[in-house]
Amino acid sequence: MSDPVPKEIGGYAIEGRVGGGGMAEVFRARPPPDFIEAIGCDIVAVKTLLPAYAKEAQFREMFAEEAEISTSLQHPNVVELFDFGEAADGSLFLVMEWVDGVDLGQVLRSYRRRRLRLHPFAACSIIEQALRGLHAAHTRVDRDGVLHPVVHRDVSPANILVSRAGAAKIADFGLARPLDRVRRTQPGIVKGKFAYLAPEQAFDRAVDPRTDLFAAGIVLWEALASRHLFRRDDDLQTVLLVRQAKVPDIRRFAPGLDGRLVHALTRALQADPKRRYPTAQHFADDIAAFLEEQEAITGPKLVAAVVRDVLRAEAGVHDSGIRVSGESTTSRGPMDGPPTGTAPIPLVRRRIA
Ligand SMILES: Nc1ncnc2c1ncn2[C@@H]1O[C@H](COP(=O)(O)OP(=O)(O)OP(=O)(O)O)[C@@H](O)[C@H]1O
Ligand SMILES: [Mg+2]
Repeated sequence: MSDPVPKEIGGYAIEGRVGGGGMAEVFRARPPPDFIEAIGCDIVAVKTLLPAYAKEAQFREMFAEEAEISTSLQHPNVVELFDFGEAADGSLFLVMEWVDGVDLGQVLRSYRRRRLRLHPFAACSIIEQALRGLHAAHTRVDRDGVLHPVVHRDVSPANILVSRAGAAKIADFGLARPLDRVRRTQPGIVKGKFAYLAPEQAFDRAVDPRTDLFAAGIVLWEALASRHLFRRDDDLQTVLLVRQAKVPDIRRFAPGLDGRLVHALTRALQADPKRRYPTAQHFADDIAAFLEEQEAITGPKLVAAVVRDVLRAEAGVHDSGIRVSGESTTSRGPMDGPPTGTAPIPLVRRRIA
């Protein structure tokens, strides 16, 4: 059903297609030899936007502007953007750090399918890391030393990538604004993208970094409760629920959840941005303080075990999932290793004409 995989996009040799939905396709690829040294890795992810989006001149301009800003974001919890441009067939592409692992959407689906719950410490570690990445973007300083925050606007489980080493990284910075434009100019083309909006987005009001905190709160709530918070089959219904921002008591779905996590969620999921955490760092620090008090394996090591478990389960191998005690996650497997990182080397990027 899907189109054949192209051999090459913008000079990157395509090895295979790894995902793609309504708006884009993602490929695993090898950079041209002279790029490998500059970016410090020999495998990258190439994301192409479907031609329907790339037609409009204003979209292309906005895409280039946002991509340019995103290339300056370097943080261990942000998927690094190396390059962007226009392929021979006119489609737009982005070249990113390859994250060897799964996205949080796959993790949550895998656990829901197996009627298991993601270990709360793992959920906390993933969201804490994602918040560190968001904070780096929210406190970004431009080349002239002026504070120029970048708001993600589309934080969702699919946009949090989790590596085999247990690092969580926010993906797709810079894509929300141009895609939002498409939503307005070509209504109906984007569906099912409303479950992680903040109320101010659902009311079409201005966004700021606290918008991302609300979305991160939804993702943490869903990871802990093992169910969707606002998502319904009908998009309109979803938007109405986001606008109301009524959050059911999570303890109904996650009995015995620590009071500090309940408090953190309540604070992140306030309809009024002024009542939320003031920064992603405050939210992350509360989660970190909770994790530090636990007498169990927490943090990236536990997350790495979760990724292994999901990859095994999704490959069809029988697996009962991790036990909640934490001890079952202590074994070292061949996949253990330090979080991946790439050297911040400035690149000459191919610009869109
Ligand atoms: N940098 C990357 N490294 C490895 N895999 C990736 C990378 N980026 C994306 N992927 C994989 O490709 C899938 C599709 O990504 P894509 O961003 O197109 O879809 P999405 O996140 O579900 O939707 P959207 O970003 O439009 O909300 C991801 O869910 C992930 O599994
Ligand atoms: Mg994505």
